[in-house]
Amino acid sequence: MKHRLRLGVLGSGKGSNFRAVMEQIIDGRLDAEVRIVISDVDNSGILNLARDYQIPSLYVRPGRFRTKLEPEVEEDIVRLLLEADVELVVLAGFMRVLKQPLLSAFPRRIINIHPSLLPKFPGVESWKQALAAGEKITGCSVHYVDAGIDSGEIIAQQKVPVLPDDTPESLHARIQIAERALYPEVIATFCEA
Ligand code: GAR
Repeated sequence: MKHRLRLGVLGSGKGSNFRAVMEQIIDGRLDAEVRIVISDVDNSGILNLARDYQIPSLYVRPGRFRTKLEPEVEEDIVRLLLEADVELVVLAGFMRVLKQPLLSAFPRRIINIHPSLLPKFPGVESWKQALAAGEKITGCSVHYVDAGIDSGEIIAQQKVPVLPDDTPESLHARIQIAERALYPEVIATFCEA
């Protein structure tokens, strides 16, 4: 029987991708519901947005590492996602790599959006990397998450032009417009799966 896809969202930043997903859900264009929002950054924009949407939201203390979570913290996140009955984990600006036990708890059920045409420019501030490399075209990618940095199998990409007078800010803004269209579209394909 058809049901609304149950999403768990993880983010560290302002939450514009999360907002785009919520807007499509509210408009009835995406047959999904966000069951929980989790952030490694206290008071982040994404947590404040989740509260505005009255979605259960939680800050998890990330622990002593800078780029990944302590295994015990991942265990807590797995428990929270399972308790919320999440089917698809959506990384929306979550700036840490995932390891175990999270990856094996949701095999091929964790996706990420990244602001470049992967495999080019993984990591942070990819739009600056694209500008510095003199790219004429960049974009965004949605991919399955593995233990590497933005390295999992690519699901979909959207190209974005780099304009001659682009600044890092103007290019990032153009990429984010593409992200906010692409991510809900890809999530919709999981509703049909
Ligand atoms: C997005 O541009 C996303 O692609 C990027 O973080 C931003 C979060 O913005 N993610 C990565 O760079 C992952 N490596 P948001 O909080 O407004 O959605």
